[in-house]
Amino acid sequence: MSEKITISIIKADVGGFVGHGDVHPALTEKARERLAQAKADGLLVDYHIGKVGDDTSLIMTHNKGVDAEPIHKFAWDTFEAMTEAAKKYKQYGAGQDLLSEAFTGTVRGLGPGVAEMDIDERPSEPIVCFLADKTEPGAWNYPLFKMFADPFNTPGLVIDPKMTDGFTFEVHDLIKKRKLLLSCPNDYYAILMFIGAPSRFVIKHVFRNVDNMICASTSTQRLSLIAGRYVGKDDPVMIVRAQSGLPAIGEVLEPFATPYLVAGWMRGSHHGPLMPCSFSEAHPTRFDGPPRVVAYGFQLADGMFIGPRDLFDDPAYDEARRKCNEITNYIRLMGPFEPHRLGLEEMEYTTMPQLMEKFEDMFEPSED
Ligand code: F6R
Ligand code: MG
Ligand code: MG
Repeated sequence: MSEKITISIIKADVGGFVGHGDVHPALTEKARERLAQAKADGLLVDYHIGKVGDDTSLIMTHNKGVDAEPIHKFAWDTFEAMTEAAKKYKQYGAGQDLLSEAFTGTVRGLGPGVAEMDIDERPSEPIVCFLADKTEPGAWNYPLFKMFADPFNTPGLVIDPKMTDGFTFEVHDLIKKRKLLLSCPNDYYAILMFIGAPSRFVIKHVFRNVDNMICASTSTQRLSLIAGRYVGKDDPVMIVRAQSGLPAIGEVLEPFATPYLVAGWMRGSHHGPLMPCSFSEAHPTRFDGPPRVVAYGFQLADGMFIGPRDLFDDPAYDEARRKCNEITNYIRLMGPFEPHRLGLEEMEYTTMPQLMEKFEDMFEPSED
């Protein structure tokens, strides 16, 4: 029996405990109360609260489709209720991701991140919800490409007949606000030209070529592009479906064995390695980091979340974490120098323009 269901993750940082490292239980409790009520009222089929660092994800199933106003409004109101608690306990940056005074029909463009997909639930529906802190949406480009296009990561692309036609990637240009569909293996080289520039080009959705089934969805909101200034990091989320003609869970997790470099660490202004960690270790401290990713594994059962399993809670990822620390020790030695610090274009969204302005009049023509 297949049933139409929508999976929505709507996330925000509405106050950090302590600084930008964790979420105070009072905020999580507020979210839990509201989610339980929404389920009792029939707005939601089911829910789970996800956390990484100072970000809370409302992981929800419902029958209202993607971009549904009642769901987005519920999430917005929940973040506002959490903000009240954050203010009461003087949490750091209370309400920081709520960039608008009021809800305007969708949370898109208002600050929170959103990843959603409508699915026909398969007879068995394993999904992974990835949540990251201290980074930006382009951080998902590398693992999504590895999962759905690289046979060295995903032997299923060679072995499973449902996968050999490949996958299509919907790539969004965040600067020009336009999108492009690129199909692998045909566009294997071209796509890398785009997604290799993750600050601008991000993978929003992945579809299976043989039947156009949706396989992955990410949050692509960039706070600095919405606000025009630095207001905390986007800290993106993504939903990935797995198994049975899709990458196996192990193929979905495999890209994270390499602690690849992402942007967004310390003041949103540094590159650093992405550390896959268990729920209990998802609280960045060193230099406000390093950036973290957690993986919530669920089996869906008629829209109910069976789980989660804490998928990076596995000694097989110890080596990635160790390597992360090694890279951290090395890259920190560069202090304020690029490429540890982000390039000038990205620094435009920090206090860099003010600094430039301050020194503008002191510049003199040079001879070279
Ligand atoms: C937040 C982050 C942190 C802050 C830093 C300074 O996402 O990455 O590194 O940018 O702690 O925060 P402020 O400027 O609020 O003191
Ligand atoms: Mg924060
Ligand atoms: Mg955060």
